[in-house]
Amino acid sequence: MKQRAIYPGTFDPFTNGHLDVLERALNIFEEVIVVIAENSQKHALFTIEEREIMTREVICDYSGVTVEVLHKGLLADYARQVGARSIVRGVRQVKDFEYEFQMSLLNRQLYPEVTTVFLMPNVKYTYVASSIIKEVAMLGGDVSKFVHPCVLEMMHQKREELNKQ
Ligand code: PNS
Repeated sequence: MKQRAIYPGTFDPFTNGHLDVLERALNIFEEVIVVIAENSQKHALFTIEEREIMTREVICDYSGVTVEVLHKGLLADYARQVGARSIVRGVRQVKDFEYEFQMSLLNRQLYPEVTTVFLMPNVKYTYVASSIIKEVAMLGGDVSKFVHPCVLEMMHQKREELNKQ
């Protein structure tokens, strides 16, 4: 039976690798909520509102997807509130696993009915991480292969904004 899942992340910014994982999730689940949240261990380049705008734009032609922002609180509580029993996470490399394993078990501790589902993106995205995309883009490199045109535009704007400071 197809069900509702949440696909959480900082999405700073939303990349084609994220989109690939989302498309795979849509083959499994009837409804996927992309949840933009803060990671206390990361300092985001884009505000949560900017990330929401770009993510909405990227997914606007997809059905079965909504975008929500988790301003505060635990992801596990959010999943419970919206009746999602699956959390989708993309894993690219073995080094992702330790952190994912910890988060998955913690979320299960907080919400025993929830299961984290790990999906691997297309191999061409295994080295595509938001952190490296941001770094290259902010230094003027071409990242057009890795992000949607609207994300690219927002990254150009951000670069100009930062250069003015
Ligand atoms: O894209 P990221 O940075 O790997 O995503 C991590 C994220 C945002 C999913 C995680 O930090 C999170 O769930 N944040 C919300 C607050 C929370 O529930 N933290 C405890 C996680 S076990």
